[in-house]
Amino acid sequence: MSKKKFAKESATIMTEMVLPNDTNTLNNLMGGRLMHWMDVVAAIAAQKHSNRIVVTASADSISFKQPIALGNVVTLQAKVTRAFNSSMEVFIEVSAEDIPASKKTITHRAFFTFVAVDQNGKPIEIPEVVPETPEEVELYEGALRRRQLRLVLAKRMKPEDAQELKSIFNLEITK
Ligand SMILES: CC(C)(COP(=O)(O)OP(=O)(O)OC[C@H]1O[C@@H](n2cnc3c(N)ncnc32)[C@H](O)[C@@H]1OP(=O)(O)O)[C@@H](O)C(=O)NCCC(=O)NCCS
Repeated sequence: MSKKKFAKESATIMTEMVLPNDTNTLNNLMGGRLMHWMDVVAAIAAQKHSNRIVVTASADSISFKQPIALGNVVTLQAKVTRAFNSSMEVFIEVSAEDIPASKKTITHRAFFTFVAVDQNGKPIEIPEVVPETPEEVELYEGALRRRQLRLVLAKRMKPEDAQELKSIFNLEITK
């Protein structure tokens, strides 16, 4: 497919308020609820890029360093960093805001991978991503390395075929 789309065309912003039904017994946002919101915002970004039905293929490690409190406003921003054949990597940044206290913190950053599929669930080719800003270029350039790492961990790629991983682990891959 020769079609290309700018990274910014997939930019998606979702805003939620943490309500009692979203929290654990410490009145903080449940991790599972946050992951659900991340999945939704990233799926919308992937749909915008591909104009296709998309399915979640993987979510890279998500750590919970600080709690998000009841009443906070959570903003999730997602954008496709790079597209391959049928799969695309989506970067998600989450921030939590205590509006009465005028305090806003970035709480999470994560990468999800989505695959565009046809009506029968078969992977289908998607447009390339054209990065424009320095941040988009940096994310685009790192995406191949992250793809190889997740495919090796998923046992979908042989470590010796993951040429880009040499730069992380300084490995001697001779193939
Ligand atoms: C994702 C899915 C469509 C891949 O189908 P498949 O038959 O394995 O297809 P392929 O091997 O041709 O892989 C298709 C693409 O998915 C990518 N992919 C597959 N598994 C992956 C994983 N664990 N992590 C990242 N990418 C993955 C492949 O790298 C490939 O990318 P490319 O086309 O850009 O090169 C299929 O596994 C599926 O439908 N999974 C369930 C999706 C779902 O229900 N998600 C909700 C979770 S509850």
